[in-house]
Amino acid sequence: MRISLRFLVPLALALGAIAYSVVPLVDQLTLKWFVRDLDIRTKLIASAAQEPLVELLTDNSRDRLRLQRVQAFLNRMLQDERIFAIGFCNDAGTLVYTTFTFPPDIGCRASDAAPEESGHIVKRRGGALYVATAPVVVEEKRLGEMVIVHDMSFIELRSADTKRYIVWLFAAIGAVIALITVVIAELSWRGWTAGIKALIRGQSLALSPQPNAPELRPIARDLEAMVRDLEGERRMRDESQISWTPAALRKILREDLKGEEILIASNREPYVHVRRNERVEVQRPASGLVTALEPVMRACSGTWIAHGSGNADRENVDAHDHLMVPPEKPVYRIRRVWLSREEDAGYYFGFSNEGLWPLCHMAHTRPVFRASDWEYYRAVNRKFADAIRQESRTEDPIILVQDYHFALLPRMIRERLPHATIITFWHIPWPNPEAFGICPWREQILDGLLGSSILGFHTQFHCNNFFDTVDRYLEARVNRETSTISYGGDPTEVRRYPISLEWPPSPLASQKPVAECREQIRLENGLGPAVRIGIGVDRLDYTKGILERFAAIERLLEIDARWIGHFAFIEIAAPSRSSIEEYQSLDARVRTAAQRVNDRFGTPDCKPIILKIEHHDADEVYTHYRAADVCFVSSLHDGMNLVAKEYVAARDDERGALILSQFAGAAGELPEALIVNPYDTEQCATALRVALDMPPVEQRERMRSMRSLIQEFNVYRWAGRMLLDAARMRHRRRLASGARRTSKVIDLRRA
Ligand code: F6P
Repeated sequence: MRISLRFLVPLALALGAIAYSVVPLVDQLTLKWFVRDLDIRTKLIASAAQEPLVELLTDNSRDRLRLQRVQAFLNRMLQDERIFAIGFCNDAGTLVYTTFTFPPDIGCRASDAAPEESGHIVKRRGGALYVATAPVVVEEKRLGEMVIVHDMSFIELRSADTKRYIVWLFAAIGAVIALITVVIAELSWRGWTAGIKALIRGQSLALSPQPNAPELRPIARDLEAMVRDLEGERRMRDESQISWTPAALRKILREDLKGEEILIASNREPYVHVRRNERVEVQRPASGLVTALEPVMRACSGTWIAHGSGNADRENVDAHDHLMVPPEKPVYRIRRVWLSREEDAGYYFGFSNEGLWPLCHMAHTRPVFRASDWEYYRAVNRKFADAIRQESRTEDPIILVQDYHFALLPRMIRERLPHATIITFWHIPWPNPEAFGICPWREQILDGLLGSSILGFHTQFHCNNFFDTVDRYLEARVNRETSTISYGGDPTEVRRYPISLEWPPSPLASQKPVAECREQIRLENGLGPAVRIGIGVDRLDYTKGILERFAAIERLLEIDARWIGHFAFIEIAAPSRSSIEEYQSLDARVRTAAQRVNDRFGTPDCKPIILKIEHHDADEVYTHYRAADVCFVSSLHDGMNLVAKEYVAARDDERGALILSQFAGAAGELPEALIVNPYDTEQCATALRVALDMPPVEQRERMRSMRSLIQEFNVYRWAGRMLLDAARMRHRRRLASGARRTSKVIDLRRA
């Protein structure tokens, strides 16, 4: 109402002002018309009276009798109620005959005055009079002129009426405009506020049941952007207020997701049963993905669907291929999916690791695309989609699809479970459109991924590359402002979720003090107490820059002889994908390079490179981290690289130095590391030297800052953010389907 008043008061004032200025104009105009009428009447009266009046004036009767006759004639003319008085002025300009009503203050004009076209108004107390004259002529001889006095009081009455009408007219127009405006404004306002409320509740304006006027759309867009920003800020504030622990994750599941079902699909399983002779060992694979997701699964329970790749896996599942883990305290379930040797070769070794892996890493290894591999890749993705369908107890579970092995899986799940919330996380880099464009099945891969509700990458750079790629190869609507891509069905949100570690990392719990770890590692490797230790931990993969790392160590020993015999670099390289030729050749080249450096600079007590190409469990790896003065991560390209974060997490003594490749996603988060270009051997050798000479105070400062970042942005936050986004999305969808239902009801009622 207050808003209506704000509109109505100016409207009333404007209309009043217009009426106020229009009334005198209309008044003047009507007066002009009346005066013209009176002039015409004067002429008509004069012409009608001409003949009888001339007759009476030229009558030879006595003056007195003529006076009586003329006055009687003039008085008869007065019967027209609008003529107030008539008089006759003779040729000398003397008023000789008048009606009895003739006002004494009106006289004759000068005898030689020219005939007048129009009369004049005489204002008097009793009302205005209009005085007009008309000549009386006989045979072209002027006898005098008639003075006809009109009563103008009726004109004044009409003028007052006109003023009243105008005022009423404007009042009526104002009332009608006001009424129409208030009704329209009220209706628009209701629709608009309903839309805004819906938006604030988390719905899109487009989902509001109220029709959206096109002229309001730009405002709606701005508002939507504003709400999004506020939402983002609120989310960040909320996130930073949460202490990210397994309990926080469980709380999100309980409160935000109301205990919804969670399923994970990944190629690598978190526990592998391996038979060695008569014994079966349970191994934790050297996988960043497993390192990150396992603690999340411990917190959330649910089912993890993965390839059963261990040679004793089949002996350790129930009739439904299920297994409860972790072995020491089972809290979640693994569902193992079995692949034939051909499937494994085509889908995992072939398309995933000879095709997509080099394609996305761009580490100068040529991708190989075989049509047969692609067929296996599709078939295995389908197999996992069917397994997920079997495992899901509800129609709308939350499914976390992991990595490049399953680019087609999101779309396949969407076909089987249309209401599922599918969060896909791509653990490796996403290349630029030109690089990605060489893949013969690029459109199918993009289409598969866009079956996801949320698609995550480690860095914004990879998100942007994905936007560019979709823009280039698909007819999709890419909205970078909202970070969404619409392609056919529901939009996919593309977001950055930098992966991290559990905090504190569980392997740390069983670790001895740093000095003892160092002692142990020196002892194991036959190193004297003066030897400083470097550490590298990787899968034996060409993207990790192991050869470049060895070249830097060699160069360090060339430029700074202090370290010959006093520096040993332990390289733990877990064998990986060893049936692929490229990996076999890397294995050979790495061994040769280590041998060459050792031959050049080795001493009886200290080999500069101690190469261990074998599996190490997490506890062993953490002991090495704690023993090392420097950790060197030299990836040629890496999505994130958790080794860098693990080294920092392992150093609760706040000592040690980290050298980190600028091409690992982690470099964006850990600027306190010594950031290097692994292709630049001189720079890397200098970094090694700086790291080994770094004063303890500086080590502490850098470590402290990196540790606080990893503590704050730990893996629970990584998973929690995705789950919170999923919860928000599910909430929106439910509101939207509620809104759609409501609008359907409205439509039915209308029908
Ligand atoms: O880097 C991405 C990633 O999926 C890691 O999580 C994992 O360490 C690796 O690639 C895959 O390794 P694998 O082929 O042994 O499963």
